[in-house]
Amino acid sequence: MAPVATNETQAPATNGASTGPVKAAKAVAEQLFNPFYSPPESNDKDDSDYAFAKYKPSWPNVKWEPLTEFPVTDVGLRADPEKKSLLSAASKVTHYTPAIGTELSGIDLRQLSDSQKDELALLVAERGVVFFRDQEINVHEQLELARHFGRLHKHATTGVPREPGLEEVHIVYNDGSRRPDPSAFSKIDLWHSDVSYELQPPSTTSLKVITGPPYGGDTLWSSGYALYSSFSPGFQKYLEGLTAVHSAVAQADGARAAGQTVRREPVETVHPVVRVHPVTGYKSIYVNPGFTRRIVGVPKAESDAILSLLFHQLAENPDYQVRFHWEVNSIAFWDNRIVTHSATFDFFPHTRHALRATPHGERPTSVADFEAQTGRVAKDWQRDIWAKQGIAADAPASTNRPKGYND
Ligand code: SIN
Repeated sequence: MAPVATNETQAPATNGASTGPVKAAKAVAEQLFNPFYSPPESNDKDDSDYAFAKYKPSWPNVKWEPLTEFPVTDVGLRADPEKKSLLSAASKVTHYTPAIGTELSGIDLRQLSDSQKDELALLVAERGVVFFRDQEINVHEQLELARHFGRLHKHATTGVPREPGLEEVHIVYNDGSRRPDPSAFSKIDLWHSDVSYELQPPSTTSLKVITGPPYGGDTLWSSGYALYSSFSPGFQKYLEGLTAVHSAVAQADGARAAGQTVRREPVETVHPVVRVHPVTGYKSIYVNPGFTRRIVGVPKAESDAILSLLFHQLAENPDYQVRFHWEVNSIAFWDNRIVTHSATFDFFPHTRHALRATPHGERPTSVADFEAQTGRVAKDWQRDIWAKQGIAADAPASTNRPKGYND
């Protein structure tokens, strides 16, 4: 499936990933782009030799109606809590960190039964993100699998594949014709939960890399469960009472400035700062630097300070994070309700091309609403894990002073 490169320099492959085509620097007009807005159409028009040219982004001049609310029942609710049929099919189960990230080996995603799909949704809800390698699943099959998790979202601004009929595919595409502009964004800005401004933001989302750089281009995810659990009970309670505005406006403005069609008018939506996952019942921080603009009903200084704390913690605290190194045909499934993520843009001038399928989840549910609607008590992820391990969560109050830990 690797593209054939002609008249190109080819970087060494160190890890089994496709090198991707690297056009000789002088052959392309290099420009800068801001990855927050998703880059405009590639400057590299000579793609007759690229096997996946039909999945490169295009911007048809179409307009879509605003999204309206519809009922969602999470398939994870009917899954076997032990996930026996999925896990027993794997030749290896590798947990990356205690908080987040699991890789399943030996599974062909094209062969999953409906109950294995339900269990996959549950595993993703528990572990935040689940990785598979060497997957031959094509984009039509990826969409079909994603439909098992929910109605698919169509992105209002990012490019859709040139091949007709794939408007539900979100494309990630960067090549050597444009260089990320470090003056246009900070790394923290890139952390986001996909399209969190929508009324019903995404649930079990999948991304498959079809062309990748020889190294670099990793993605990081950060657990909203672990972030919530890291705070003191008083601060957790305070956060549970807050709501925040998530906005699509900057993304739409960026697209218009790049001359692209905005297919659906941008929305701003208020969501709880702490949402509860409908299946696990765990509380998760639901704000992100990409789209959350302000906390509702508090002084601006307070909103700025709270959001800054949450943004910096999710982006900078490695205890909540996992970093995945993709190979061609790797696919990741993450639950956008309970993790944030950030791609790295360290691979210029190589090509990185990936296809995403994005099912809608439910409208985010606050702790109070979850408990009133379900009669269940929403849980703190870390305390629940520790309780299952027989570990007392309430250690005696510490008198330790901060200590250095440098060697
Ligand atoms: C995304 O934000 O959905 C794409 C992440 C990536 O490019 O790794």
